[in-house]
Amino acid sequence: MSPARDNHVPRQRGRRTSKGRDARYKDRLKAGVEEPDSVVRKSRYFTLTNMAISAVVLSILVPVGLGLLRDVDAKLSTSAVRPLPDKAQIIQQKSFNVLETVPPPSEANATTEFLWPGVTHKSLTDRPFHVYDPEFYDVIGSDPSLTLIATSDTDPIFHEAVVWYPPTEEVFFVQNAGALAAGTGLKKSSIIQKISLAEADALRSGSHANSEVKVTVVPSSPQVINPNGGTNYKGQIILAGEGQGDNIPSTLYLMNPEEPYNTTALVNNYFGRQFNSLNDVAVNPRNGDIYFTDTMYGYWQNFRPEPGLPNQVYRLNEESGALTVAADGFVSPNGLTFSPDGSYAYVTDTGLSNGLFGSNFTRPSTVYRFKVQGDGTWENRKTFAHVAARLPDGVHCDSKGNVYAGCADGVHVWNPSGKLIGKIYTGTTAANFQFAGDGRMVITGQTKLFYATLAASGVALS
Ligand SMILES: *[C@@H]1O[C@H](CO)[C@@H](O)[C@H](O)[C@H]1NC(C)=O
Ligand SMILES: *[C@@H]1O[C@H](CO)[C@@H](O)[C@H](O)[C@H]1NC(C)=O
Ligand SMILES: *[C@@H]1O[C@H](CO)[C@@H](O)[C@H](O)[C@H]1NC(C)=O
Repeated sequence: MSPARDNHVPRQRGRRTSKGRDARYKDRLKAGVEEPDSVVRKSRYFTLTNMAISAVVLSILVPVGLGLLRDVDAKLSTSAVRPLPDKAQIIQQKSFNVLETVPPPSEANATTEFLWPGVTHKSLTDRPFHVYDPEFYDVIGSDPSLTLIATSDTDPIFHEAVVWYPPTEEVFFVQNAGALAAGTGLKKSSIIQKISLAEADALRSGSHANSEVKVTVVPSSPQVINPNGGTNYKGQIILAGEGQGDNIPSTLYLMNPEEPYNTTALVNNYFGRQFNSLNDVAVNPRNGDIYFTDTMYGYWQNFRPEPGLPNQVYRLNEESGALTVAADGFVSPNGLTFSPDGSYAYVTDTGLSNGLFGSNFTRPSTVYRFKVQGDGTWENRKTFAHVAARLPDGVHCDSKGNVYAGCADGVHVWNPSGKLIGKIYTGTTAANFQFAGDGRMVITGQTKLFYATLAASGVALS
């Protein structure tokens, strides 16, 4: 999606007023709810030890609980001795579960950066791989890296539809169609662009001649109007176009990823009615069908008419042309992906953001999971994760089934049970991202483009 005001997250830290603090503190000490400062501080120095101990305890208890005793030895040896990579830091959620002062919603809400006592924006971005759970070591490996590879002044050209195209080792992405700073909307359509992974990697290793990679505009023909989501499809790329004004309907396009970048429309209506503004698209690896989200950011960002359909998820069988609805009941279905075997669907609902109409903090900023039935229909909608850092936009799985979403402070990573195991902390909006094969990822941060290397791999391409 394309909320315009993603870029600068105002910072909020636990308020530390001196007035009356000591008195309140003493009262709480007496009441037994607070540890003396020295203990609190000391406990932070034991972070590493605690983590190592928890890792050992977990690796014993979890397998025992599951009756998987044969795994104990292997897990003990891997988790206990793993050193913390240079670019990683351990985050103890327990260290901020009880804060001295918890500010009201007018000061601490979905748009503010949460900085708990002991951390700063700088300390969080200096070592950007945040380990919330030892499972994250398997995701990042022993030497992860995060490199800023391109920037733009104010135009959010690094937005979404991040697609890796292996034959040319390029990564495609699109400009934000709805942000005021993009100058798009009714005046002009947002652009498709691409970069070379070889250049990104040269920049990471310090062997690139320039300080940024080259960003090339892709002249699709006929032009894809206001693309927002994208995915690989049979060697080509599908792009979800939001449409423009009354007369250019939202369209799902197939684009040739090589010159002349010719395109073919796959679907542009639901029984004669315009979609609201198509947002994201994913292909189910089991049945090969194309699923896509339709939501109303085009209207909320003033470049599409008032919606004429519910905000819902559609399914297209390209061969037969059958177009059905896979799920509804959302405020704003946005990012969409499948688990590696196609048995689960994940949809982000970004109802919290109403684009230029503002935010409503009681609406979803939530990842939902559905069970995909053998016949491709969805059931058992489950609340998978709620994101505190504004909202989860793009969502993708790795080859092991962990779930990643682009949020206001970076890419959050959950295990398949919905436990937050870590973050790739960009310190700025990560609208979307995509794996580019084994151990490589490109993250679009509106005015910033990042390249990450890690241990995890993306799912097989469709
Ligand atoms: C959310 O927090 C920010 C930063 O403290 C504040 O400026 C804004 O007014 C708050 N929003 C609401 C609706 O209270
Ligand atoms: C692009 O043009 C080629 C040659 O005519 C055609 O084979 C291919 O299907 C086209 N691709 C798309 C996505 O339109
Ligand atoms: C915020 O969303 C809730 C739930 O959808 C709704 O009841 C409420 O009216 C909304 N508030 C505003 C100010 O629009």
